[in-house]
Amino acid sequence: MDPFLLRPFGPICAHRGGSSLAPENTLLAARYAMALGAHCWELDVQLSADGELLVIHDDTLARTTDVAARPEFAARAPWLVHEFLAEEVRTLSAGAWFLESAPHRDMEHQTDREEIAAQRVPTLREALALTRAHRFPMNLEIKDHAGQPGDGLVVARVLDLLAEAQCDGLVLLSSFRHEYLAQARALCPSLPTAALVEDRHPDNLIDFLRRLGVMAYHPEYTMVDAALVHELHAAGLRVHVWTVNERAHARALLGMGVDALITDWPQRLANLAPVVA
Ligand code: G3P
Ligand code: MG
Repeated sequence: MDPFLLRPFGPICAHRGGSSLAPENTLLAARYAMALGAHCWELDVQLSADGELLVIHDDTLARTTDVAARPEFAARAPWLVHEFLAEEVRTLSAGAWFLESAPHRDMEHQTDREEIAAQRVPTLREALALTRAHRFPMNLEIKDHAGQPGDGLVVARVLDLLAEAQCDGLVLLSSFRHEYLAQARALCPSLPTAALVEDRHPDNLIDFLRRLGVMAYHPEYTMVDAALVHELHAAGLRVHVWTVNERAHARALLGMGVDALITDWPQRLANLAPVVA
């Protein structure tokens, strides 16, 4: 089932929950994004040392938590996510850094600095509960665990949680590590998937995507043009691009026929896109 066609909405997807609005990959960001017109949210997941799925982008805790300021963790630099227990991560602030050093933040919508500083790294379970409660579709990106103990486990863990979460039709799974998408398809063929790419298109792109069985292609936005979008649509594939933060770029991409824009600034783009009935 296509999560982007479940209900009348347009194609604005809040990147990391909408990382200009609140600390990235927090529940607060997702709530702001929802309130300000996003139609779905993107988040990143990684396994902790004890196998909990945490919503965090980097493979270290350094940038988006206060771990470096915590004396009890000083000896554990560079603070790799997969070397921390979930309960340790959950003691950290995932919001203080946003108030001090987030590169692009929109404080216009912020009223409560304490609430921001009090944000924790969410578990995927919590994120799915938000998606279910608000029918707010999620693009769940599994980060690349290559070389980590969780590499062979992460897909099964995600699918186990999804089976419990009652979010059918609300989750689109994506990854740069395309073998995760093949694993997911083998274990749960009904779960929609999308292939992320950053630098170059895979050889024989359409055949590649068909073999993977994905429903969407997620390239970095400068990689697409109208001809490519047309070709992908003709093959029955949707095109969702990232990370589009400028209105002029968004307008051009929508003009090419792109189906969704993954953006840090959903509040800036929300009124650009036609709502799909
Ligand atoms: O899923 C789109 C985008 O999030 C991919 O890049 O590094 O922000 O996770 P990144
Ligand atoms: Mg991501």
